[in-house]
Amino acid sequence: MVLCVMAGPAMLSQHLSGQTWETVVWNPMELLRDIFVILHLVGLAAILGGFLEQWVSSSRRITAVMVWGARAQIVTGLALVGLIYANDGEPDNMKIAVKLVIALGIAGLAEANKKKDTPPAAAWWLVGLLTLVNIGVAVIWR
Ligand code: HEM
Repeated sequence: MVLCVMAGPAMLSQHLSGQTWETVVWNPMELLRDIFVILHLVGLAAILGGFLEQWVSSSRRITAVMVWGARAQIVTGLALVGLIYANDGEPDNMKIAVKLVIALGIAGLAEANKKKDTPPAAAWWLVGLLTLVNIGVAVIWR
């Protein structure tokens, strides 16, 4: 909690670097991008939150929230790529391709195992670990 309070404003100011509040609030394309970045982070929280919750409990299932999080990452990720092009930007296509393949893997594993009371342990672990890998790709690959 303390970490969130401290890290939140720092991450926000890093995200806004080079922009003023006026350009963010009044430029519709910037605003749209920011909304999709937030939805992208909510999708990430849905997968990882579900995974961590199950980790400390006795059951290891793929919950509906995790499945929807996995779907959301693909939809919001592709929307973010579209918005980069719409803003005359040039996304790193190699990085996007790697993230997309990993996200499709996560979503595939989640869809295939969502109805099982005891999914294969490897599939359950892979959903969490591949999500962490994609966070690493997003943050470290610049
Ligand atoms: C489980 C899957 C995924 C995770 C955990 C994830 C995680 C993240 C995170 C943490 C960021 C913020 C990075 C930062 O601003 O420093 C980010 C940004 C981004 N992600 Fe993903 N991502 C996933 C899937 C995808 C997919 C499938 C795509 C595209 C097909 C994608 C495209 C993007 C783009 C374009 C941004 C940059 C947004 C911007 O600042 O304009 N992501 N992702």
